Amino acid sequence: MKLRQFGLVAGAFCAAVLASNSAIAADKPLQVATDAAYAPFESQNEKKEIVGFDVEVLTAAAAKSGLKTKFINTPWEGIFATLGTGDRDVVASAVTITDERKQSMDFSDPYFEAKQLIAVGPKSKVVKFADLKDKKVGVQTGTTGDEVVQKLLGKTNPNIKRFESTPLALKELLNGGVDAVVADNGVVVNFIANNKNDKLKTIDDATFAKEYYGFAVKKGNKALLEKLNKGIAAIKADGSYAKIYKKYFGN
Ligand code: ARG
Repeated sequence: MKLRQFGLVAGAFCAAVLASNSAIAADKPLQVATDAAYAPFESQNEKKEIVGFDVEVLTAAAAKSGLKTKFINTPWEGIFATLGTGDRDVVASAVTITDERKQSMDFSDPYFEAKQLIAVGPKSKVVKFADLKDKKVGVQTGTTGDEVVQKLLGKTNPNIKRFESTPLALKELLNGGVDAVVADNGVVVNFIANNKNDKLKTIDDATFAKEYYGFAVKKGNKALLEKLNKGIAAIKADGSYAKIYKKYFGN
């Protein structure tokens, strides 16, 4: 091959590689981890599509920065490790921003305020969090609900019953296997509304702190964080966040 020919071929090759690379970068959706057993934030509909408040908020925010999203049902246990391995770009799973988590991942600006809420059966005498001290309490493993209950009962107390998902803990409450469940307010309220006949009661305790949900990314992924934060600000400014909020939570 003559030098000139080589140059042409090499040039064409480079152009092709560059073109396909940028195509991938622009079109490849964000791989989003979510534990889709957490209505109304993330759940699977009859068609097995992942739907919910988090899905709509992240998708709308990402779109403002020209990004698409692909939600992938991912078990809560180990969900954050998928950022480190690069299997997922974002965790959007009603994740509370905590100081401890901030050490191993970065969070977007908060997009939702939540609190723990206690659920008990219709005949329960529990009226405040401290009443759970010698009760069997169901939580989802590794959630902020789990942490709060550990503080009252002690980390290794066998009365803390840990479940893979929050609905499983709540079902165990219906079955009488636990005396109470402590979990995020939005999910507890949603579950009770969908299981009205069981007449579960809720107890809001003044000692529970406010929690804020954020989208988690791999530690140091500043470029993506910036895009997500710009997007969150934009959907708050143009009313689309309010519209999504109203759809799921009313006024
Ligand atoms: N907000 C709580 C936490 O961050 C519970 C989140 C659980 N989310 C879920 N999709 N299961 O610990």
